[in-house]
Amino acid sequence: MVVVAILAAGRGTRMKSSLPKVLHCLGGRSLVERVIKSVEPLVPSRQLVIVGYQSQEVKAAMQSIPSLEFVEQAVQLGTGHAIQQLLPHLQGYTGDLLILNGDLPLIRTQTLQQLLQTHQENQNAVTILTAHLDDPKGYGRVFCSGDNLVQQIVEDKDCTAAQRQNCRINAGVYCFRWPSLAEVLPNLQANNAQKEYYLTDAVTQVGKVMAVDVDDYQEIVGINDRLQLATATAILQTRIKEKWMMAGVTLIDPGSITIDDTVEIQPDVVIEPQTHLRGHTVIETGCRLGPGSLIENSQLGENVTVHYSVVTDSIVQAETRIGPYAHLRGHVQVGNGCRIGNFVELKNTQLGDRSNVAHLSYLGDTTAGSQVNIGAGTITANYDGVKKHQTKIGDRTKTGSNSVLVAPLTLGDDVYVAAGSTVTEDVPDDSLVIARSRQVVKQGWRRKETGG
Ligand code: UD1
Ligand code: CA
Repeated sequence: MVVVAILAAGRGTRMKSSLPKVLHCLGGRSLVERVIKSVEPLVPSRQLVIVGYQSQEVKAAMQSIPSLEFVEQAVQLGTGHAIQQLLPHLQGYTGDLLILNGDLPLIRTQTLQQLLQTHQENQNAVTILTAHLDDPKGYGRVFCSGDNLVQQIVEDKDCTAAQRQNCRINAGVYCFRWPSLAEVLPNLQANNAQKEYYLTDAVTQVGKVMAVDVDDYQEIVGINDRLQLATATAILQTRIKEKWMMAGVTLIDPGSITIDDTVEIQPDVVIEPQTHLRGHTVIETGCRLGPGSLIENSQLGENVTVHYSVVTDSIVQAETRIGPYAHLRGHVQVGNGCRIGNFVELKNTQLGDRSNVAHLSYLGDTTAGSQVNIGAGTITANYDGVKKHQTKIGDRTKTGSNSVLVAPLTLGDDVYVAAGSTVTEDVPDDSLVIARSRQVVKQGWRRKETGG
């Protein structure tokens, strides 16, 4: 049994941001959300998140994750001070406490399991995760005796020039026997370069301290500034793309593609260069996406193609072709075997099976049936300057080029709209509507000559 505590109260000054550091996003999830995900499979008996800087925002961002307990650290006086706030919440607890920095988004569950195992097998008072880095700048340095027993942790800012040469660093993950930690927490002193209460000072006061090296040093990148955020993004992207390629997805020019790890992709999907898949997106088998496309929070059925287009918050059924240069947004639903073509925008619109909107159109707040053909340049005028209005288009209805459908409007089944019409009144089934001025031809007319 283990209780988990996540440190998420700091401001993250080095990010130079109005957003608290732990809410910065990496691959579709916030940093702290990633840490929480990494501990989930350990089935902790409690998960305590220490919040402070903009705590309302941080809590709101994690609202959807059940079973988190928030502990306030009203002023942020350091990582040791943060853990001191747990004392009233863990009274009488005699088990282990796994502590993780909230800015450690790439840590793997497996690594945490190894840490816990070493901790328990060796009956340590505390076991900490360490790594050997070529460039240890910014991290606390860990000094051990030969057998991985930790003697001292010195923060980068407190290091002497000689200490700074030590490349073994503290990753910011600790498994403490809680009663031992609880005993020393009240004694922490802030006599260091940052005038903070360091959790790392508690480490060497509790008894037997063991260090465990992480296998893959990329897991322990701590995010303190935008450079480290970019480094972590690159590491995560490599992980995600390797996973999908091994699962049968073709990526053409993987370096130019980004995929959030909230995305699901079936085998035999081809993703072309400069294509980005974000949020809760599901791509079914046989799809061909890109080049140059963005798909966010959307579901694409089998064999859908998307070229140079943007699809957000939408559902597209099988065999539909999208693009080039289409934009689907605001809860669009497109049926089977449709064609959404060049320079077409669909917003909050439903389209039945085998319907086409192939050229230069805008459909907003529209429900159209199956086998509908929206002619080139058809526009729904859905906004009267105050409110949005609905347009309904029946099955097999066809609009001529350059027609304007002024909402609210209903066109029945099998309606034909003559090219260039501005339709303002409902049209019943099986009708032709012509709503334009009649052509006038003045034969023999010539422009009168003026002047000499
Ligand atoms: C910390 C460690 C350092 C380690 C590094 C790993 C200490 C003293 N130092 O340094 O040894 O190498 O992490 O990345 O612990 N936080 C609070 N309350 C506070 C201060 C911080 O909750 O009062 C939280 C932050 O939100 C953050 C985490 O603690 O998630 C770590 O704080 P940060 O300031 O980033 O510590 P580092 O200087 O990186
Ligand atoms: Ca940090």
